[in-house]
Amino acid sequence: MLRRLHHTQPETFAFTPANQAWAEGQLTKFPEGRQASGVIPLLWRAQEQEGWLTQPALEYIADMLGMAYIRVLEVATFYFMFQLQPVGSVAHIQVCGTLSCMICGAEDLIGICKDRIAANAHEISADGKFSWEEVECLGACTNAPMVQVGKDYYEDLSAERFNEILDELAAGKVPTPGPQNGRYAAEPLGGAIALAEYEAGKAPLNASATLATDIGDTIKRIDGTEVPLLTPWVRKAAAADVVAKKPETKKRDTKPAETQTVAEAEPEILSAARDGGADDLKLIKGVGPKLEGVLNDLGFYHFDQIENWSAEQIEWVDNRLKFKGRIVRDNWTEQARILASGGETAFSKKAPKEG
Ligand code: FES
Repeated sequence: MLRRLHHTQPETFAFTPANQAWAEGQLTKFPEGRQASGVIPLLWRAQEQEGWLTQPALEYIADMLGMAYIRVLEVATFYFMFQLQPVGSVAHIQVCGTLSCMICGAEDLIGICKDRIAANAHEISADGKFSWEEVECLGACTNAPMVQVGKDYYEDLSAERFNEILDELAAGKVPTPGPQNGRYAAEPLGGAIALAEYEAGKAPLNASATLATDIGDTIKRIDGTEVPLLTPWVRKAAAADVVAKKPETKKRDTKPAETQTVAEAEPEILSAARDGGADDLKLIKGVGPKLEGVLNDLGFYHFDQIENWSAEQIEWVDNRLKFKGRIVRDNWTEQARILASGGETAFSKKAPKEG
């Protein structure tokens, strides 16, 4: 396949300030003079920010890494994961067309893409929202057929469910990634014969789907406000700084006044876990590993910090999370109260324990 730069290019490119900080953090991984090793992560970040790789982006990264433009172009054109043309504003759909998916219905999914998005791969739909392409095996063959939408997998698809997913995405929703036929993960279709406690309906979402929903970046363009953003050694210093400065988030700054129904109040914040070590906040339903890291970065390490949050304090925390409303929806304070007293919730009983 011929891969070349798109005929229409923007004038300029720049990382957002936060993405710039992230990119500079990545470069601290490499010894002086070896910054070219960061070319793929930086190209990927540029694509996550813009949706595709523009010529100004390639030049910007080449300048940043001290590389010849042609060398960056070679990398970008070699790897199919880099999109060299504009993609849909909502999502770029990657349909696996390799063996397992093909014999399980990938052609139906591709037909839907042709009917609903564009007749040809890499073309943008008339409403500008979607684009699609057929890709090689994405490694989820036991859950064939499947598609990658943005950063996550939708597996065990039927034509009907794929149509629904496109409808939901077009309506501004993000369907939960993972198996779409009721399976928990990749257990036999007839039901699990081992590890039966992990069957769909008996356990929360599988780890991949949980992480995907916790991160919430399935189709989001990465603007750098995501946490954790920096490399661990940079992040550690920054996190202490964040706690000291009482973090300001982009979301809070841009929140329309009319939706601010509860005044904020800062809850108790710690600069580190107490001597006994941090509690496993993942035992709270709705808190995955990523969110636990965010909470730790904000200064929350213990159930007893969370159990007494007032409505105003919940608002303060909510304004610093990507998805608002989950603290109340999953009743974190009540869960934390039970866990702080040494009790178990229905969720924590099933959750894997640390240590
Ligand atoms: S064949 Fe489709 S994921 Fe492997």
